[in-house]
Amino acid sequence: MLQFGRGHPGTDQNPFRFGDVALGDYFTDRDEEIAGLTGDLLSGQNVLVLAPRRFGKTSLIVEVAARLRRADVLVAYLDLLRVTTKAQLAGYLATALYDGLVPPVERLIQKAGELFRDLPLRPKMTIGQDGTPSFEFGVGAEETDVDATLDRLLAFPAEVAKQRGRRAVLVLDEFQEIVALAPDLPGRMRSIFQFQPDVAHVYLGSRQHLLHKVFTETNQPLYNSAKVLVLGPIAPTVFGPFIAQRFATTEREITEEAIAYLLSLTAGHPHDTQKLCYFTWSFTSRGQPASRATVDRAVAQVLDTDTARYTELWDSLTANQRRMLEALARETKTTRPLGDDFRRRHRLGTYASVERALNALVDRGLVERFGRDTTVVPDVFLRLWLNEEPTPLSAYVCADCGEAFSLPVWHCPVCDHHWPQADTECGNCHAPRTTPTGTPSVTVGKA
Ligand SMILES: Nc1ncnc2c1ncn2[C@@H]1O[C@H](COP(=O)(O)OP(=O)(O)O)[C@@H](O)[C@H]1O
Ligand SMILES: [Mg+2]
Repeated sequence: MLQFGRGHPGTDQNPFRFGDVALGDYFTDRDEEIAGLTGDLLSGQNVLVLAPRRFGKTSLIVEVAARLRRADVLVAYLDLLRVTTKAQLAGYLATALYDGLVPPVERLIQKAGELFRDLPLRPKMTIGQDGTPSFEFGVGAEETDVDATLDRLLAFPAEVAKQRGRRAVLVLDEFQEIVALAPDLPGRMRSIFQFQPDVAHVYLGSRQHLLHKVFTETNQPLYNSAKVLVLGPIAPTVFGPFIAQRFATTEREITEEAIAYLLSLTAGHPHDTQKLCYFTWSFTSRGQPASRATVDRAVAQVLDTDTARYTELWDSLTANQRRMLEALARETKTTRPLGDDFRRRHRLGTYASVERALNALVDRGLVERFGRDTTVVPDVFLRLWLNEEPTPLSAYVCADCGEAFSLPVWHCPVCDHHWPQADTECGNCHAPRTTPTGTPSVTVGKA
């Protein structure tokens, strides 16, 4: 902070960011995905974007949306993460549509109330502090009215697109929530969306196994209705230079070795890499490049910060789930976690009990499943936490009697009391370390 006011304004601001959507200077790579996705959406192609949580799905679509808007496409963005009822969904959808399809300059002409005038249910409109309206539908409404309202809202982008002679894109982020909320919705969406040639739909989701099924199995309502784009980690050849350059903008440095080490820990996981970089940077001073040791210090700091959360999570798991999670965390990627070999190697139980544990872990998003046979524990720090050697409470064992201690001790041959090796006499009976036999009767070693 001292550098502020010395001609380097802003350079003491951490150049890494995690948690929120990464934009501008905080965003790297994804050139191919951006180009591909933009092209697909411009030509009306529906796309399903799959990746574990915090892999950068939202960041990617925000970048793509900006480009689409520059190309005059209307883009409505809906985040489904916290939607718990259909009525709430209808409200969020109306808000997203108004926000995305009616540009601010046209809002004076296109009054919000009028726009939704013909819906089976009338929304209640609230104007936020920033002047943007949001919509809500009454909680007590009949299910059939809510359904009919949803249908009308889902048809809306196509109507607006046609009226204005523009293309439209509807983004449905965290789409897996829809499947959990109302199993009939995907089918209803399909029947409406298939008559919308001027509207492209983007589904973003983190429950890959579930969504892959919804879009690729023949008996599923959204079967074959979207092109699948799987978003992977960011390649070290791109992430490495990005990290070095972000350090450099703040007049700090990081060694090549430290970058390689950091990326070997995070395997290019976008969020966890930024998080580790954030802490590594915070331990780096000018003129003293971040080293492998700095990265280790950052890892310790992150684990320290997150331990309470992980402990709580651990407490909530059954014994079988714990064993399974621990086994999976030992490997970056596991193939055939239900196979005999894996189960035997990690001393897991029967096929049925292991499968139950795995399903529960997948349901909770702690484990991601790709295809039938591959799993990962996507949270890099959870993986490191699970792999940490437990700090032994008693690292030293008395060779005489087997009692355990956290520091090296002597065993008093006179009164059986133990005292620290650094002391010269027994704290209890004051017998000197050299007893009449001439040698200490105790040797201690690390457990
Ligand atoms: N392209 C990217 N470049 C750099 N960091 C990224 C990128 N994409 C994501 N991140 C990091 O990951 C975090 C989570 O991104 P987000 O888009 O919210 O992921 P998701 O929507 O998949 O959960 C961001 O805060 C940022 O730290
Ligand atoms: Mg997201």
